[in-house]
Amino acid sequence: MNPASFVIQTSEPTPALSIQDRVEWTVSDLLTSLPHAAALSAEQRRGIIARYTAVLEGNFIYWMTGALLAAKSEESRVIILDNLHEEVRDCHPGMMRRFAVAAAAFPTDSDALAVSRDLMNVRLFVGRLAGVRLILMMTFFEGFLQRFMPFLAELAERQCSAEKEYTDVHGVCDIAHTEGLFRALAAEMALDPAGCQGDIFEGVELLNTLMRTIVHFDRTYISMNASRLATQ
Ligand SMILES: [Fe+2]
Repeated sequence: MNPASFVIQTSEPTPALSIQDRVEWTVSDLLTSLPHAAALSAEQRRGIIARYTAVLEGNFIYWMTGALLAAKSEESRVIILDNLHEEVRDCHPGMMRRFAVAAAAFPTDSDALAVSRDLMNVRLFVGRLAGVRLILMMTFFEGFLQRFMPFLAELAERQCSAEKEYTDVHGVCDIAHTEGLFRALAAEMALDPAGCQGDIFEGVELLNTLMRTIVHFDRTYISMNASRLATQ
């Protein structure tokens, strides 16, 4: 089954979209919400990199491993294993940590707590090991990460960092990873029609929310406190 030809009903952004179209729409919508790096303070730049690192360093391989455990089709497993092999062999968590340290943005306890609730929601979802939904979530994630790299690189540059290995590698390898995961998704959907029922974008939306908290936590926090002060 080609996921691009599998049309689902959705209330937004149009009544009916293919899965691939909706993934791309969700990625674009998230990217459109990004602030201009030049308009951010040093602390806001540091916060975004730190919260991103707090999520990515310890969770990407964990979630992709969840997708491997959940996958029923041999084709999906081969594609996901290949992805994991690259992550572990090239020590992507180490790359992530070097990137954050060089930008003076290694996460503090406050950074980790800022993403804690939304991160837990994604972890609980991953733990249900629903193959189609989980592979779809990771497909969205790879597609987003690849296009998020220029913004992340600009934040680091403005933090006077010259460390670019993480953003350079993920700006390139995640293109192939996204294509591979769309193939894995098609194989999984063909083998598991029951897994295609209901809201298969559940994981995508949880991860979308987590990414928005990473990027917009300061603004959400400030507006929450402003409205709290206004009612006092
Ligand atoms: Fe990676």
